[in-house]
Amino acid sequence: MEFGVEISEYHRAVPVFQHLIDDEHPKTAQIPIANVLLVTISAWLMSVTRQILTRMFGKPRGFLGRCGGIVMAHTNDDCAASVIELLEVKSNETVLEAGFGPGVAIKRLSEAAGHVTGIDQSREMIAQAEARNASAIKSGRVELRHGSVSSLPFADNTFHKAIAVNSMQIWPDAIAGLREMWRIMKSGGTIALGFTQYSGQKREGLIDKLVAAGFTKARVVEKGGNFCAVATKP
Ligand SMILES: C[S@@+](CC[C@H](N)C(=O)[O-])C[C@H]1O[C@@H](n2cnc3c(N)ncnc32)[C@H](O)[C@@H]1O
Repeated sequence: MEFGVEISEYHRAVPVFQHLIDDEHPKTAQIPIANVLLVTISAWLMSVTRQILTRMFGKPRGFLGRCGGIVMAHTNDDCAASVIELLEVKSNETVLEAGFGPGVAIKRLSEAAGHVTGIDQSREMIAQAEARNASAIKSGRVELRHGSVSSLPFADNTFHKAIAVNSMQIWPDAIAGLREMWRIMKSGGTIALGFTQYSGQKREGLIDKLVAAGFTKARVVEKGGNFCAVATKP
């Protein structure tokens, strides 16, 4: 079964439609209903998958968000460990982590730094990170806050160091978020942005983003399949 449809830019871009576009009648085509169904179902499946992944990992919320937190605590710990190693945290330093998720990097940082502050926009992740870091929170070495990197609730020049692991690629505006990180860091401080190979973040353009936010000495370091961008606030 076939039906006539107006050819739009969308149809021109979809491979299964392209052979149906007739040069003599460039405005319409007879498209088999099976093709239309196939494309519609694929688009719907892709959109549902994207929503599930966002709910689990990007903006963890509800049951799926809690499951995502459990997965991330296992899969991202190696990346967090190498990012923290690059940061060379000292025992008298203060560190901020933006987008801490289930809090595995916060735990590692709290073992090395004088004080660790975390900020995340997900209440579910705050609950998991609080459980994971309960004794350090109780003793005052760790503070976890709810909020966004777009508007950090901290004074200028507060932290010696800052990190984000698998988070910057989700921020609504990466350069604006990095400018906020720059603002709250002390002069001479180091920022480290870690990414696993499944983060969806490209290596290309990372240094440009850091430089656009005001950082200098930006470089990308590879570790296994993971990578980390390190830079300094002058
Ligand atoms: C993919 S998870 C990574 C979590 C953790 N860093 C890890 O590596 O396992 C991304 C985290 O960033 C947080 N996040 C995303 N956008 C944010 C924003 N604009 N401000 C603060 N946190 C954000 C999410 O809530 C989530 O916890």
